[in-house]
Parts: sequence; C-alpha cells; structure tokens
Amino acid sequence: MEVIVLPTATATASLAADIIEHLLRSEPHPVLGLATGSTPEPLYAELTRRHKEAGLDFAHARAFMLDEYVGLPADHPERYAAVIQREVTDPLEIPVDAVHGPDGAAADPVAECARYEQAILDAGGIDVQIAGIGSNGHIAFNEPGSALTSLTRPKTLNARTRQDNARFFSSPEEVPRHVLTQGLGTIGRSRHLLLLASGEGKADAVARAVEGPLSASCPASIVQLHRHATVLLDEPAASRL
Ligand code: GLP
Repeated sequence: MEVIVLPTATATASLAADIIEHLLRSEPHPVLGLATGSTPEPLYAELTRRHKEAGLDFAHARAFMLDEYVGLPADHPERYAAVIQREVTDPLEIPVDAVHGPDGAAADPVAECARYEQAILDAGGIDVQIAGIGSNGHIAFNEPGSALTSLTRPKTLNARTRQDNARFFSSPEEVPRHVLTQGLGTIGRSRHLLLLASGEGKADAVARAVEGPLSASCPASIVQLHRHATVLLDEPAASRL
C-alpha cells in the first residue's frame, strides 16, 4: 500500500487522472471501476478536461460501477446508474453499452448480484478501481461488519450512511435502505485500487483504514491487504495519520 498526501483535492484528482491516463494509453481495452459520491467528482472533471482538450480517448474503455441503490424509480436522478451516466459516461464519451452496474430494480437481487460478479470476471477483471471512503469506514456500500472475502450482494445501509447520503435526496426518509454492492473480495481482486479521500470529515476513517487493524469493522482497511493499493489524500483527510 502506498499513501500519497497532497495539499489539495485538486492535486489528488490530477494525480489520479495521471494513473488513469497511463492505463488508457498503455492498455488497448482498459477496464475501469467507477465510484459515486462527491469525492471522485474532481477526478471525473479532470478526466473530462483531458478528454476534451488533450484527446484522451475512452472509446475502447469498459467500466463497472461499485454499487447501486435498490428501489429508486427508473427516472430518479440519484440512481447511481444515472449519476455515472451524467458525470462519467456522457462527458467522457464512453460507449453506453460498455458501462455496467448492478440492476437495483432486478426482481431477484441475489441472482442479479451473481450475474454482475460474473460479468466483471468475464471482462477480465478491473484494471483500476476508483473508490471513496464513507465516514464510518465503508467502501462502496460495504458497511462495517462486511466479510473481507464478500462478493457482490444485497446489503442494508446503516443509519449513519443514510444520514450522510441524505444530502443528495429531498428528505432523509427518501434515502433507500437497501443496495447492491460489490463485495470486499470483489474490490480486492481489482489490479489497482485507488482510494481517494478529501476533507477533515474523512480523517478518522482514513486513519482507521490505513493505520488501524485490518478488520471488518473498518471495511476500507482492505487497502492494507490489497496487492496494489494507492491511497490518495488531501492534507485535511490525512490530518490524523
Ligand atoms: C457512498 C458510496 C461510496 C462513497 C461514499 C462516500 O456511500 N456508495 O462509494 O465512497 O458514499 O461519499 P462521498 O465521496 O460523497 O463522501
């Protein structure tokens, strides 16, 4: 595990974009792992800038999302599929059918998770997985207590995560209770894990993930186990290391 601390979130986004640009320029059919949340937004903005101004080409990229809410209406703007299309697929001009996510409306969520796990394997696995960290140490939607070897599966969100994510919804009650998420074992199989965190609000979770014990009580601590993990932090997020 490599931990890199830079003064600002803009600087961490730029370094993360360098890593993704290197992948795109060296791998003919790159597979990206996409995260939602506000943390990767500056990275997506920087990739969009490089796509528009420097011809960084995503036409041959494929992408897999980390997670999805269960039960949001098909036209809800906070469905992660909609967020990723708005922030990533459309601006980077990744072919729409090359971007995949677990279907939160599937009639059989367990079967849908197995299908999704297999789809990642069939694509040859994920080259660079982008991830944020929840204030409670979650990664994707793997809440504390998630098994370190878990695969894609349905999960129930805990109260703190629903509260954290309420800012994206019109009321806290509107935040779904259930999600489909890649497991810690799924994320562990990615060839390069890029964990991003910015702001003091993440400092405790970052310290537990990076310096605490490897433990299901802090799911993001799998960075310590990962064969190639880069933790990219701005100074406030690194302030308790
Ligand atoms: C959600 C997502 C996570 C993300 C986390 C942190 O719970 N499922 O993938 O890492 O939020 O979000 P933010 O980056 O907005 O703090």
